[in-house]
Amino acid sequence: MKKGELLYEGKAKKIWKSDDPDLYIAEFKDDLTAFDAEKKGRAEGKGALNCKISAYLFKLLEDHGVPTHFVSCPTEREMVIRRVEMIPIEVVVRNIAAGSLTRRLGIREGVRLPFALVEFYYKNDELHDPLINDEHALILELVDHESDLEELKRLGREVNVVLKSFFDKIGLDLVDFKLEFGRRDDGKILLADEISPDSCRFWEKGSGRKMDKDLFRHDLGDVKVAYQEVLRRIREEIEGSSPSST
Ligand code: TMP
Ligand code: ASP
Repeated sequence: MKKGELLYEGKAKKIWKSDDPDLYIAEFKDDLTAFDAEKKGRAEGKGALNCKISAYLFKLLEDHGVPTHFVSCPTEREMVIRRVEMIPIEVVVRNIAAGSLTRRLGIREGVRLPFALVEFYYKNDELHDPLINDEHALILELVDHESDLEELKRLGREVNVVLKSFFDKIGLDLVDFKLEFGRRDDGKILLADEISPDSCRFWEKGSGRKMDKDLFRHDLGDVKVAYQEVLRRIREEIEGSSPSST
């Protein structure tokens, strides 16, 4: 598959047209940013790790009936994806209090929430991705119908059920994560973007060791070592630990 025109360059990915009008190519970059790109860094090989981790998780979700944009990974940092029109909403799902939730509401970091909390953020760099409610989303016309918001919440919760139990099995607490969705021409909503340690918080069970982008955000340790460890655990769980199947 050939790369065509560069359509978009974000902080962590580039999106290219391909020679198939229904497919795009996402290229995962080694750049790291935090706090609206006020903090910038780079970790050689991070893009390939996130590409592989996202591919495993998209496949896992597809196997559990969650529709995603994932098609294949032709190279170690490229992903062939279905063409969708992105919905400018970040859907954040939280199981344990951390990050902006602790700052906004004063809930102590590490408190387990009584149920999975789903939040919407308006994807807009100039406005610093503000937290919004359903009515804001409708007034801003980020979606056409209230039922679309219900669908985003339903998919967010479904992804959480699948991923939380998967990460439990590999010794990681899925603290929270951010999802993005897109719409196909026929209106169907697909899970898009990426699911990686850049967009999730993972804490090792028992030790509480952070194994995600918070290491970079708060200078807590080596991002690449942690991301490699996350990939190793995912791969072992999915492929089995025998050398012949890896
Ligand atoms: P927050 O606690 O900073 O709101 O982040 C919630 C989750 O969303 C966390 O897993 C990190 C992820 N996230 C992104 O993927 N991109 C972002 O721009 C932000 C702010 C958070
Ligand atoms: N991804 C966002 C940025 O680069 C924020 C974050 O993930 O902390 O600014």
